[in-house]
Amino acid sequence: MSLNRKFVNVSAGVPGQKGAEIIEQRKQYVPNGVGNNTPIVVEKAHGAIVEDVDGNLYLDFAGAIGTLNAGHTPAEVVNAIKNQAENLIHSCFHVGMYESYIELAKKLTEITPGDFNKKTILLNSGAEAVENAVKIARKFTGRSGIVSFSRAFHGRTLLGMSLTSKVKPYKYKMGPFAPATYKAQFPYLTNKPEGLSVEEYTDFCINQFKDFLLTEVSPEEIAAVIMEPVQGEGGFNVPPKRFVQEIFSVCKQHGILFIADEVQTGFGRTGSFFASSQFEIEPDLITMSKSLAAGVPISAVTGRAEIMDAPNPGEIGGTYGGSPLGCVAALEVIKKIEEENLCDRANEIGEKIKDYFKELQTEYNCIFDIRGLGAMVGIEFVDPRDNQPAKDLVAALTKTCYENGLIILSAGVHSNIIRFLSPLVISDEELEEGLDIIKCALEKVVSELVTEVK
Ligand SMILES: Cc1ncc(COP(=O)(O)O)c(C=O)c1O
Repeated sequence: MSLNRKFVNVSAGVPGQKGAEIIEQRKQYVPNGVGNNTPIVVEKAHGAIVEDVDGNLYLDFAGAIGTLNAGHTPAEVVNAIKNQAENLIHSCFHVGMYESYIELAKKLTEITPGDFNKKTILLNSGAEAVENAVKIARKFTGRSGIVSFSRAFHGRTLLGMSLTSKVKPYKYKMGPFAPATYKAQFPYLTNKPEGLSVEEYTDFCINQFKDFLLTEVSPEEIAAVIMEPVQGEGGFNVPPKRFVQEIFSVCKQHGILFIADEVQTGFGRTGSFFASSQFEIEPDLITMSKSLAAGVPISAVTGRAEIMDAPNPGEIGGTYGGSPLGCVAALEVIKKIEEENLCDRANEIGEKIKDYFKELQTEYNCIFDIRGLGAMVGIEFVDPRDNQPAKDLVAALTKTCYENGLIILSAGVHSNIIRFLSPLVISDEELEEGLDIIKCALEKVVSELVTEVK
């Protein structure tokens, strides 16, 4: 499979000698539980290209799990961080306010869906945004119940885990979990019973949710429903629009707040700034992180002003929340997404990936489903002999891609889906080279692993 490539070069071996030595040290000093998808030790990265410590060059289709919509080290962001670092690294917003926090808070109220007064709190990580959205929702409603969905992912803190719905590796033997958290069923079109149309299945899922409110928890006990408009970790599941709208309207009916967790879907990934607008809903609260600041740790909750104002001074926040470095980086990222039309670019990238796999699907019947919104595309693989999730095939595929210079991630409760989270600044040529690496890897893996599949 060693082809001449324009962008990729793994001639030092993967990992190379220096990388292998560092990985040995990592094994000694970093716990096993901190997983590594790929044994790459990164030296530097620009745009959609990552260079490791041995000088190997990789194309990046993982984007630090969807953190780099604006690309690795965008010049505007790097300059803003440098300037900021020279003047003020941190004063803690609770102790010494700074303008960039307020500027970013304002900007997020402007670009999030909903033409009503909003406010924003800034934090550090996606899980922390989720934690705070829940605290705010409970304080505002005076209710305790929080409903999330099957196949959801909301982070690794106690509450994040409690709301998450993939047992291994996220929750196994980590309980007991936070009380008053409930799981409703999320549509999963792969499991749609044969004979039901999508419309009928949507009705079925809506009725299931209404039944859940009778059998699991009463609406007046629920503070909030939290939903990823497109599920990320759970397999890039795009729910039927009517399902999302109906849940939203049931929430409205019962005074339940709707929290859209846009940590992975936000900032252009799905072809609009936020996926919620494509479902034509205006969430009460939105959680954001990942691509907000091109990799500088920062997160946010933006929501209706009266809801955001429910907690009293000191009840929400934290030492590092909305650090000056994160704020200036985020303001530059948002400007870049706007000025370079990265939302439109996400749609182009998504179409290219989908078209490519539709073509491949005619040759490989292990490609079961091609789905997604914008550039958030997932490809689900099954073993066509028994229609079972092809976890081993996907593991071999991602490994072979890595060995040939492409960083790519899996997703889904069976880890049988590959997901595309490349920077949106990727060029067509880079994208095509990456797709070709996947095609060659698929050919190799299918012929080696499951000879009868093809
Ligand atoms: C939808 C969603 N919510 C929350 C999180 C947690 O974010 P973090 O890992 O920054 O805590 C993630 C991370 O993948 C996510 O995809």
